Amino acid sequence: MTSEIDPELDLFAAIARLKREQDAVILAHYYQEPDIQEVADVLGDSLALARAAQKTDKRVIVLCGVHFMAETAKILNPEKKVVLPDLAAGCSLAESCPPAAFAAFKAKHPGAVVVSYVNTTAAIKAMSDYVCTSSNAVAVVSSIPKGTPIIFGPDINLGRYVASKADRELLLWPGTCIVHETFNEKHLLRLLAEHPQAELIAHPECGPEVLQHAHVVGSTKALLDHTQASPKTEFIVATEAGILHTMRKASPGKTFIAAAPERLGDDPSCGCSTCPHMKLNTLEKVYRCLRDLKPEIVLDEDLRLRALLPIERMVAVG
Ligand code: 13P
Ligand code: SF4
Repeated sequence: MTSEIDPELDLFAAIARLKREQDAVILAHYYQEPDIQEVADVLGDSLALARAAQKTDKRVIVLCGVHFMAETAKILNPEKKVVLPDLAAGCSLAESCPPAAFAAFKAKHPGAVVVSYVNTTAAIKAMSDYVCTSSNAVAVVSSIPKGTPIIFGPDINLGRYVASKADRELLLWPGTCIVHETFNEKHLLRLLAEHPQAELIAHPECGPEVLQHAHVVGSTKALLDHTQASPKTEFIVATEAGILHTMRKASPGKTFIAAAPERLGDDPSCGCSTCPHMKLNTLEKVYRCLRDLKPEIVLDEDLRLRALLPIERMVAVG
């Protein structure tokens, strides 16, 4: 049983105190709600969070993201306590790739090198030669000798994008992200017509019908960096809406428009491009998990060891 939280409690101050007392670090993904982004020690994309998890000397890691991110942190840190504010925070991509079906796919292509996206369960990582994120997927695939057959999964859109960038043929698993597949080409063309000065920036998990119109394609971190470095002042953002908070904070004078097919009310940061899994985490749950040190990620040691090597390769590349 978790005890109730005093409604008068200043959660920001309480989280800062608990972080010290528990010797904890908070790692948060850009798709987390703004309050969680504000209490994070490290805010980053999947690759940055994995790297931060590998480097930390804290006893406890609070991973504010989804389950595969916390699992990756645990694989890299068996001796540390890794907690996730809501254990039910999953990922449609990870779910789209059941281990038995993936093993059967792999068996059909003996000799193929397996590159799996970090958005997978530990069981899929354990069947992989390399893990990659959207930040380093092209570099990982390009590092494999030409002529080697490569299985890439589970995101088919990222897979197609990487295949074209690295100029390689890939054997693709047909998974998609429920957030990035919602962007609608017609709606985007309308937004582009309404904002002729704006750049469309898109995550490679979006479908080809969206990516073909994008001025810039990149991981969340690459898109954020671009908005800061670019002389442009208006951006249509085709990725999860949580990153708009970081983008606006980093470039206060610029305009960021969510590329979601529908908007709720007048708030352009609000719409269909929110990940229901990411949004299961709340500031209250961050407080609770720091206070109670649960829910904790627990992994079978044999599985952890098999998933470790491809993750270490991911952290090293790009
Ligand atoms: P990156 O953080 O690697 O850009 O991935 C986005 C994503 O969908 C995470 O779930
Ligand atoms: Fe998974 Fe997509 Fe949510 Fe990222 S945004 S956690 S890929 S469902």
